[in-house]
Amino acid sequence: MALTSRLARREDVPTLLPLIAAAIEELQKGFLDAAQIESSRSIMGIDGQLIDDGTYFVVELDGQVAGCGGWSRRATLYGGDHSSGRDPALLDPRKDPAKVRAMYTHPSFARRGVGRLILARCEAAAAAEGFASLELMATLSGRALYEAVGFVPIEHVEDPTGGTPVPLVRMRKPILAAAS
Ligand SMILES: CC(C)(COP(=O)(O)OP(=O)(O)OC[C@H]1O[C@@H](n2cnc3c(N)ncnc32)[C@H](O)[C@@H]1OP(=O)(O)O)[C@@H](O)C(=O)NCCC(=O)NCCS
Repeated sequence: MALTSRLARREDVPTLLPLIAAAIEELQKGFLDAAQIESSRSIMGIDGQLIDDGTYFVVELDGQVAGCGGWSRRATLYGGDHSSGRDPALLDPRKDPAKVRAMYTHPSFARRGVGRLILARCEAAAAAEGFASLELMATLSGRALYEAVGFVPIEHVEDPTGGTPVPLVRMRKPILAAAS
């Protein structure tokens, strides 16, 4: 069966929350220690604003939800509904990069192209709204995916919000695809 994608709905949230928890717990192993993974929960998770904005996608395989992720025309760079310091201000596509947000693949579906498919949809949608580049704050677990599709690191930071500092990488990518 092929991967399919669609816009997420609020009704998907009960399905997405355990998927996101499993991705955070399992797919960051090897990149972060247990204390860092625990701490990362405070800065990761679902952002309902993206669902309401129609910029959050769900990917399914054979009728099962395999992953989720999206983009935003708003200023918040990363974090979930529970995270502090969010900024819903609208970006200016003429000068600001659109944000790629909240990418999660269920561990059972890792390395099958779920993340790549979501990023392609994000890029096409952001291009259609006139954005010329994408920006994100990558976890160490996400970095290889983003590099594989052309993002480059521009800043290394640590976020201590959850107690143990969590290493993160701010990355950018020009939008090459024509709007579709
Ligand atoms: C990051 C994440 C979303 C990637 O999802 P995914 O669906 O497995 O990614 P894809 O299958 O589309 O990977 C595409 C390419 O990215 C690269 N890649 C992805 N994960 C990788 C890994 N763990 N190690 C090395 N390369 C990786 C590979 O080049 C891969 O292509 P290949 O499988 O043909 O070699 C997933 O690992 C995840 O949920 N991690 C935990 C949550 C998280 O940190 N999210 C990112 C927040 S910024």
